[in-house]
Amino acid sequence: MHTRVGILGAGPAGLVLSLLLAEQGIESVIVETRTREEIERTIRAGVLEQGTVDLLVRHGVGDRALAQGARHDGVEFRFGGAPHRIDFAGLVGRSVWLYPQHEVLKDLIAARLAASADIRFGCSEVEPRGIGGDRPVIAFTGADGTREELVCAVVAGCDGSNGISRRSIPETARTEHFRAYPFGWFGILAEAPPSSDELVYTHSERGFALISTRSPEVQRMYFQCAPDEDADSWSDARIWDELQARVAGDGFSLREGAIFQRGVIPMRSFVCEPMRHGRLFLAGDAAHVVPPTGAKGLNLAVADVAVLARALAEFFSTGSPAGLDDYSATALRRVWRAQHFSWWMTSMLHTPPDASPFDVRRQLGELDMVTGSAAGSAYLAEAYTGWPLEG
Ligand code: FAD
Ligand code: DHB
Repeated sequence: MHTRVGILGAGPAGLVLSLLLAEQGIESVIVETRTREEIERTIRAGVLEQGTVDLLVRHGVGDRALAQGARHDGVEFRFGGAPHRIDFAGLVGRSVWLYPQHEVLKDLIAARLAASADIRFGCSEVEPRGIGGDRPVIAFTGADGTREELVCAVVAGCDGSNGISRRSIPETARTEHFRAYPFGWFGILAEAPPSSDELVYTHSERGFALISTRSPEVQRMYFQCAPDEDADSWSDARIWDELQARVAGDGFSLREGAIFQRGVIPMRSFVCEPMRHGRLFLAGDAAHVVPPTGAKGLNLAVADVAVLARALAEFFSTGSPAGLDDYSATALRRVWRAQHFSWWMTSMLHTPPDASPFDVRRQLGELDMVTGSAAGSAYLAEAYTGWPLEG
């Protein structure tokens, strides 16, 4: 079996790449280890940058995001028990959209299959080979148990943070930058009405809390916890008490309801450089992971493949490898900006286990500067809503 671009992984990076390539007439095959049902059920991100939504709309897969997602023109920071709004629309004329990642994936999968895309779900023993040469191969066992070999011109490693593609680059040919944070996020989904029209990022003496939403009936909330916290050991009442204590002040309280999903998310920063080895190009979480505080992960995955698709179009239409040669450096510029933003939001809002009173006062000074100065607010608004996409 032959294709031009063999794509590992049907997450946001892999699916958007196959969509952008198809529009340039470039054939691809996606090899994915999970089933379609598993992918469409996994609860992850919720915030789409304006540029991500614009890209989905431009390529015909944004109708549901526009109709069922919610545009947010600002965000609230709560600290010292009081709210402080950042007005995205007024400061930078941009917004973000709340629309869950698994709904984006449903839209992308439906659109790609309707266009007869070749997506192999439920594969195992996936093995990229010969990535240093000009005819790389993806060997895999299909869902029906047949062993197959896919011969490609290029392989796109879009297989997430635990995928095989990054590990297939020789250790001597990559540098990995890693930071673990001394806390995690306890995330819940609850059947409850919204408590706020906009997202609420809270700094409190008990640690960080984030109030987000999914729909008028379902709310998404997170709070800082120990990295090894056992989510199942918490009663619903204890979860609500902790969330209420963190957002308290100013008469604000959360509207509670039945908790139907919970889990603890690790917090880490990771970058693999360069994002390329020979004919293998990494994109999305396969190359970098950000702590979720800046809501950047999915958006960075989309930004990477926008650059990669343009470089591949140039390569296949003119034979010029210039764009592919620049891919890693171009993508990494945005990646490191987003790493900084995600690290900064995380360190400004969370209370590390060893925080001194000085550290906490300094955080409050920083939050006051960000929300109380036009320049500080404008930086936050610009970074949160997303820098312009390349490609
Ligand atoms: P993935 O979504 O991880 O997709 C990789 C795919 O590759 C998977 O389907 C996987 O099954 C498949 N795969 C794995 N191994 C192999 C293999 N060997 N062969 C073939 N296929 C393989 N980001 C935001 O932008 N905004 C947010 O609000 C946000 N919130 C988040 C909240 C949570 C709780 C979490 C966990 C993440 C959040 N993120 C957020 C991050 C975001 O979900 C990820 O950055 C995004 O999914 C990355 O997309 P990807 O396509 O690179 O990787
Ligand atoms: C959500 C997730 C995030 O990481 C974030 O920063 C904001 C919102 C969410 O799942 O809604």
